[in-house]
Amino acid sequence: MEKIIDGEKLNVPEHVAIILDGNGRWAKKRFMPRNFGHKAGAKNVEQICEDAWNMGIKYLTVYVFSTENWKRSVEEVTGIMNLLRNYLETSIERSNRENMRVRIIGDRSRLADDINKAIDKLETATAKNTGLNFTMALNYGGRDEIRRAVTKIAEEVKKGKLLPEEITEDLINAHLDTAELPYPDLLIRTSGEERTSNYLPWQLAYSEFYFTDVLWPDFDRACLLEAVRHYTNRDRRFGGVK
Ligand code: IPE
Ligand code: IPE
Ligand code: MG
Repeated sequence: MEKIIDGEKLNVPEHVAIILDGNGRWAKKRFMPRNFGHKAGAKNVEQICEDAWNMGIKYLTVYVFSTENWKRSVEEVTGIMNLLRNYLETSIERSNRENMRVRIIGDRSRLADDINKAIDKLETATAKNTGLNFTMALNYGGRDEIRRAVTKIAEEVKKGKLLPEEITEDLINAHLDTAELPYPDLLIRTSGEERTSNYLPWQLAYSEFYFTDVLWPDFDRACLLEAVRHYTNRDRRFGGVK
C-alpha cells in the first residue's frame, strides 16, 4: 500500500514478519545477564506494534521462542517464560485499548498449562479487534509446523474425508498455524545474522528479506522505517517478468 510517511512516499508491506534477535548480545554489551536483554526486547515488541500500525502495517508476526530454544539454560528458558506470563497478563487491556488482535502460532502442547490458559484468554478477548493483527510464534519451528500439518492431512485421508489428489497448496496452507494470515511481504532479522532459523519456511517462499546489524532492543521506529524504505525499492516479480 502506498503511503506518505514523514513526507516520503513509501510502499508499506501489509504483513511484516520479524526474527527479533540479539537480546543476549545487547545485555552482554551492558555486562548484564541475558534475561535483562529479553526484558528490554519484550518491551520493544510493544512499541514496535504501535509503530507498525501507525505506519499502515496490518499484520506483524514475531518469532519469540523457537522449538530449538529449549536448548538454552534452564535459567534463561524460565526467565523467558516468566516474561511471557507477564506479557500475556498485561496485554489484554493494552491490546483492547489499541484495538489489536493477538494470535499465537507454534506447538502449544509443550507450554505450561497456565501459559496456555492465558493465551486462550488473550486470543478470545481480542478476537473482535480490527486493528493490528499481531502474532507471536511460541515454541514455533517451521519444520515442526509442516510435520503437524502433514499429520492432520494424513488423518483426514485415512478417515476417507480427503483424497490424496485433493491435497493442494491451498489445502496445505489451511492446515498450517498461519492459516488465517496472508503470507509475509517482508521478513526482518535483527542482530546481523542472515538466516531464517526455522521461521515460516513455507510462508516466506516469496517474501523480501531485510537484515540489519541493529540488536533487537535497539530496533526502533526509524529502523522499521528504514526496512520499509528498502522494501519500497524491491521489485517483486513472483517468477514473472515485468
Ligand atoms: C532473541 O535474542 C530472543 C530469543 C531467541 C528468545 P537472543 O537471545 O537469541 O540473543 P543473542 O542472539 O544471543 O544475542
Ligand atoms: C531465532 O533466534 C529464534 C528467535 C528469535 C525466537 P536464535 O538466536 O535462536 O537463532 P540462531 O540460533 O542464531 O540460529
Ligand atoms: Mg540469537
